[in-house]
Amino acid sequence: MARVKVAVLISGRGSNLQALIDACSAPDFPAEIRLVISNRPDAPGLQRAERAGVPTRVIPHKKYGSRAEFDQAVERALNEAGIELVCLAGFMRIFDDAFVLRWHDRMINIHPSLLPAFKGLQAQAQALAAGVRFTGCTVHFVRPAMDEGPIIVQAVVPLLPGDDAERLAERVLAAEHKAYPLALRLIAEGRVRVVDERVQITDADAPAEDAILNPRP
Ligand code: GRF
Repeated sequence: MARVKVAVLISGRGSNLQALIDACSAPDFPAEIRLVISNRPDAPGLQRAERAGVPTRVIPHKKYGSRAEFDQAVERALNEAGIELVCLAGFMRIFDDAFVLRWHDRMINIHPSLLPAFKGLQAQAQALAAGVRFTGCTVHFVRPAMDEGPIIVQAVVPLLPGDDAERLAERVLAAEHKAYPLALRLIAEGRVRVVDERVQITDADAPAEDAILNPRP
């Protein structure tokens, strides 16, 4: 079985990277992480990659005079490693449109809200401020506009009495760690198609219907 060659781009903690590393460690998982790139030399996620024996590259954005030069350095690293799919996982840089277009439908991101709600930073605090009863996370294809693009997988997380942004973020993160490996698997299995900027998934099972009220009746 040819496994899809993946790069994971990080800037920090790398807990989603860890979830992807763990998923890829199963012998029958259809993707493998060939490269981890961080724009920050001190990103703790780099150690997770090293522990798992995954090659790492640090490409510090501050070293480059312009965004285009930084993007080119990333592009070179991806090409050298023969990368087929890019997974952004807490990567805090924005690529220019040319880079995003080159990786059209070959670059995905995870965001800690049910998009299109609560784009941008502090999505959990935004959800609390809005008083929604559910939030969650979204894995989506990357488009030039931030936190936009065809949605592949979402997971729902209820807001609970006494939640603050930190407690909510912990539960959203646990959902992220399930959603991201699932999205990667569906893509690597060739089951995901983008039609008119919406995702179609072959043989996708519907979720249980009994989890949609908060509070429970
Ligand atoms: C996650 O909440 C992800 O949704 C957001 O940044 C955070 C990264 O966390 N894009 P980690 O580095 O994967 O632990």
